[in-house]
Amino acid sequence: MLRHVHATRYVTPLREGGSLPGLVEGDDDGLYVVKFRAAGQGVKALIAEIVVGELARTLGLAVPEIVLVEIPAELGRTEPDPEINELVTASAGLNVGLDFLPGALDYTPAQAGLIAPELASAIVWLDALTTNVDRSARNPNLLLWHGAPWLIDHGAALYHQHAAIDLPARARDPFVLIAQHVLLPRASELAMVDGDLAAMITPARVEAILALIPPSFLAASGRPGVAEYGDYLLTRAAAPRPFLATAVDAREHDGA
Ligand SMILES: Nc1ncnc2c1ncn2[C@@H]1O[C@H](COP(=O)(O)OP(=O)(O)OP(=O)(O)O)[C@@H](O)[C@H]1O
Ligand SMILES: [Mg+2]
Repeated sequence: MLRHVHATRYVTPLREGGSLPGLVEGDDDGLYVVKFRAAGQGVKALIAEIVVGELARTLGLAVPEIVLVEIPAELGRTEPDPEINELVTASAGLNVGLDFLPGALDYTPAQAGLIAPELASAIVWLDALTTNVDRSARNPNLLLWHGAPWLIDHGAALYHQHAAIDLPARARDPFVLIAQHVLLPRASELAMVDGDLAAMITPARVEAILALIPPSFLAASGRPGVAEYGDYLLTRAAAPRPFLATAVDAREHDGA
């Protein structure tokens, strides 16, 4: 179960975020970066935050705690910006929050030396598995906190869920956009980490992660069953993994 938190105060928007995430205080006195259900990509982006964030954690990668944030209808009322007021008000009910990492810095490609090749390879592997288009040099969605990279912003991953077709039908599609991954040049150990990482994506683990998605998100997404997400992920994680060859090829073409 993801922890439930009740929002008590809307603190400030995080303007750099395309989806206008907001910093929100919870009734546990914690601060959370909230991804609002009424934002651009809708509830499917929240599903991707949960599924890909928890898959990353399963692989041993650092991800802020993910919680469900209950937004009361009146929370946005005191916010003077009408766009934000409307977004928060339209998101009354359950939303996704990430534990706010105070003092974390946005990662830049100049800091690649801080990330060991094995770790960079594991992050690339996760993003290739989950078709995450949002870890480019322009928009790395990595925070440096206490000297280590933390993964955020997985709302754009699993992008096949936005198409009308069944997810499992796309499970073997190559993911050529991995060529734009900010850590690809550093990911020299893809073949080495592949087997260990794939072994962690077990049916039981995937089932447990999918069970974290609130039923109301699934109902609103137009993809009411979690079974197709499970099929999709387990097929991708099963050998042979075409996404791995695509990532290795992309590195070679880049002269890495
Ligand atoms: N858990 C966190 N702790 C600290 N800062 C965070 C956290 N999550 C997000 N941020 C900050 O807020 C910014 C926007 O968050 P995020 O990338 O999740 O939103 P987004 O709207 O999906 O972004 P974009 O579309 O610009 O990639 C991040 O770039 C980062 O600077
Ligand atoms: Mg982002």
